[in-house]
Amino acid sequence: MAHLEETAVLRTQTDLTDRPDKTMDNNINQIPERAFHEHVEKVKNWTNAFYLDTGRSPLYFIRTFGCQQNDRDSELAAGILEKMGFRGTEIPEEADLVLFNTCSVRANADHRFYGHLGRLKPVKKGGWPLIGVFGCMMEQDVHVGTITKTFPYVDFILGAGAVRTLPFAVTQVLFNGSRKQKTVNLTNQRGLGDDVSLPIRRSDPHRALITIMTGCDNFCSYCIVPYTRGRERSRSYDRIMEEAENAVKQGVKEILLLGQNVNSYGNDRRKRGEENAPDFASLLQDISRLEGLWAVRYMTSHPKDLSDKLIDVISGCPRVESHIHLPLQSGSDRLLKRMNRRYDAAHYLDLVRKLRACRSGITVSTDIIVGFPGETEEDWRATLRVMEEAAFDAAFTFLYSPRVGTPAADWYDESQHEIVQERFERLVEYQNELSLRSNRAMEGRIVEVLVDGESRRDPSVLSGRTHDDRLVNFGSVQKDLRGGAGDTPPLLPTAGPGDVVRVLVKKAGPFSLDGEIIRE
Ligand code: 5AD
Ligand code: SF4
Repeated sequence: MAHLEETAVLRTQTDLTDRPDKTMDNNINQIPERAFHEHVEKVKNWTNAFYLDTGRSPLYFIRTFGCQQNDRDSELAAGILEKMGFRGTEIPEEADLVLFNTCSVRANADHRFYGHLGRLKPVKKGGWPLIGVFGCMMEQDVHVGTITKTFPYVDFILGAGAVRTLPFAVTQVLFNGSRKQKTVNLTNQRGLGDDVSLPIRRSDPHRALITIMTGCDNFCSYCIVPYTRGRERSRSYDRIMEEAENAVKQGVKEILLLGQNVNSYGNDRRKRGEENAPDFASLLQDISRLEGLWAVRYMTSHPKDLSDKLIDVISGCPRVESHIHLPLQSGSDRLLKRMNRRYDAAHYLDLVRKLRACRSGITVSTDIIVGFPGETEEDWRATLRVMEEAAFDAAFTFLYSPRVGTPAADWYDESQHEIVQERFERLVEYQNELSLRSNRAMEGRIVEVLVDGESRRDPSVLSGRTHDDRLVNFGSVQKDLRGGAGDTPPLLPTAGPGDVVRVLVKKAGPFSLDGEIIRE
């Protein structure tokens, strides 16, 4: 055990420049903006010809795994494809181009991706549909090797966050005759810099996902992200504000600011000499002032970097969501050290106390990993104690998943699997109790809800989220008593996506609230 801890400490002390960072690699080529537009035009000509030939536009389908950063990259991919003349479809089998946006953070995302990819083999006939893969897995040589060797029917691959190279990939496959030979590998190409505005196709027109920074410098010992997404790079304040202002002008009600560690926004710019580069608290405050916006959300906050200035902004700016996602990972100081998290349980709980005191009703959600290598019953109990004291309103719980290339993967002991699985189930059960307790406190109250649309399970029910990020389901239709005929009067929607409505909470469950819309 002592040996393991020494290794953890050693790794944390290594200089950041020693770490592999493919995104800073000199072999990575940046594609100039002019070339990007030329390639967009080339594909556009092709899609026009396709339309003249077939009487329809070529269709694309995108399957996204992983986090909201990937959701945002898929929205960019969709925007670029639509600019090039493609149209979206929800049915992969009818698509002319299928894209996979992959995630490396845990093994089950890898497996699900390969499962879906394998199922496309019999669908692919005469070279169609074109298949492209991008995202975090394509930053790992092992997966690049697997794709090119085992799945040669994949037409092209791109790196993580390199969705901006999409027009190049499509032109190479369509016009260079490469598709008959092998997978076009563009993982050593970067698209336009992050600051160039590109077309975007939002999944929800009322919600804008805005990446404020990419990469991560933290090297938590279990996490693959710093290796796939590279070092922290903050987008410019002006470009982010411009994107946010435009989104609100277009009717966006909610902005979600994205970064692996939003609290360190601007650090890299200041280190590079931009002394006055704004920090995250200022950015959040300025965005929250945009007239017409209902809420600004942000994730993810690292507990080691959460500043008092940010707490003041949360307290003083009503449009900043009444919620924070603050990953705990473990309540055991011993494990936090080995995870290289650089805070202890006392510091974490202190932050939660400050947050709960600064804004009444704020909710706190978290991430917890169960079964980190070397976890003992006592470590696990320490996590339960912090959960109890923090009284988390929601939690995402994960079974530790060894990621090749991370320090913790070398410490993994598979023989613990059963014990860990049992601990995992008990911990999830405990969190469900905490979540239910938190949601029960809402029964009988009237809450504001931003409507997302029909619930997936029941189209006669609408669902949306409160400012404090609770999921609410409520009746979506009313009988039109004026125009109805016989026993089956037509149903009128009471609200639609993007509306903010008031809902009386009738019943609470651990994951959602059920209520009734209030009509004034
Ligand atoms: N195993 C399990 N969970 C992980 N996470 C990151 N890496 C791993 C891993 N190797 C979890 C962390 C993080 C969330 C996004 O995913 O809890 O906060
Ligand atoms: Fe991974 Fe830690 Fe960075 Fe989060 S802060 S992305 S868990 S290395």
